[in-house]
Amino acid sequence: MLSRGENNGHIQGQNDDQNWESLLRPSGFDDYIGQDSMKKSLRIILDAANQRGESIDHLLFYGQAGLGKTTIAHIVAKEMGGNLKVTSGPAIEKTGDLAAILTNLESGDILFIDEIHRLNRMIEEVLYPAMESRSLNIILGKGPSARTISLDLPPFTLIAATTRVNLISGPLRSRFGATFRLDYYTIADISEIIRRSARILGVDIETGAIDMLSHASRFTPRTANRLLKRARDLAQVSGIPAINTSSLGDLFNILEIDKAGLEYQDRRLLRILSDHFAGGPAGINSLSAALGEEKGVIEDVYEPFLMKMGLIKRTSSGRMLTPEAVDYLNAEDKNK
Ligand code: ADE
Repeated sequence: MLSRGENNGHIQGQNDDQNWESLLRPSGFDDYIGQDSMKKSLRIILDAANQRGESIDHLLFYGQAGLGKTTIAHIVAKEMGGNLKVTSGPAIEKTGDLAAILTNLESGDILFIDEIHRLNRMIEEVLYPAMESRSLNIILGKGPSARTISLDLPPFTLIAATTRVNLISGPLRSRFGATFRLDYYTIADISEIIRRSARILGVDIETGAIDMLSHASRFTPRTANRLLKRARDLAQVSGIPAINTSSLGDLFNILEIDKAGLEYQDRRLLRILSDHFAGGPAGINSLSAALGEEKGVIEDVYEPFLMKMGLIKRTSSGRMLTPEAVDYLNAEDKNK
């Protein structure tokens, strides 16, 4: 059975690799699949604020990369009828950068700060009064003659996102009206997302291939969509009418991913833990040096997924392989 793509020439014509993420991004809660409890709570917050004609409380979203934090910010802005202004923690280098952003906000705007954990403390302190009482305190001059002026800001909502909620200071965290954790998606939700994306991209995909793709998607829509795009490319150049399990098998070989979505670096991490550290425990610094990968990438990308798969666990003395990982590595050795 095929999930039929509606070959929409207009959409296909506009589509390129740079904007595919926004093309596939759901534009409202109705086509946002999964994260049901978050959607339910948000719906109440939005409906209540809309009824009162007020802006909503500041919101904080956290969870792994690719789970849809930016997408939610777009949806909230649309639901509130406000403009979304997008920036990120590392892009705001000086307090003046944040002051410029804040003074350019208009009533009802939604300010989205991605990677908010990377905002430095001095800048964070400019944010506190802005969030709390919509005022911007600017210090003019230096030394004894320095004085502070306070500017009123229009009603706005800050939506912040982070992959590392533990790095957010208590004072900042407490200024959000609600905090939401985005979880990894279920296989059923990822399958539905793949079906939806295939329809938008105008590509046919067999049911078995949807299942195979969803299992290799690291429970993450961004990965699912990225693999779907690569599968579409391969089906097209191979001249097959629909993505099937055989063409996906070829794709996985080319991309060096296995059917559970483990990538080359995931497997190397497991191998290194097994061969260099006798299964662990290994500290993050040693692991980072052995793998040649930044600590942050290991902590943000590889570890959460490998823990979700039950292949590694974190203990107080370091990372350890689980018995399932030992079985996984043995099975890999047999297949060599
Ligand atoms: N594309 C990316 N994330 C999605 C989601 N949660 N629902 C539908 N499509 C998506």
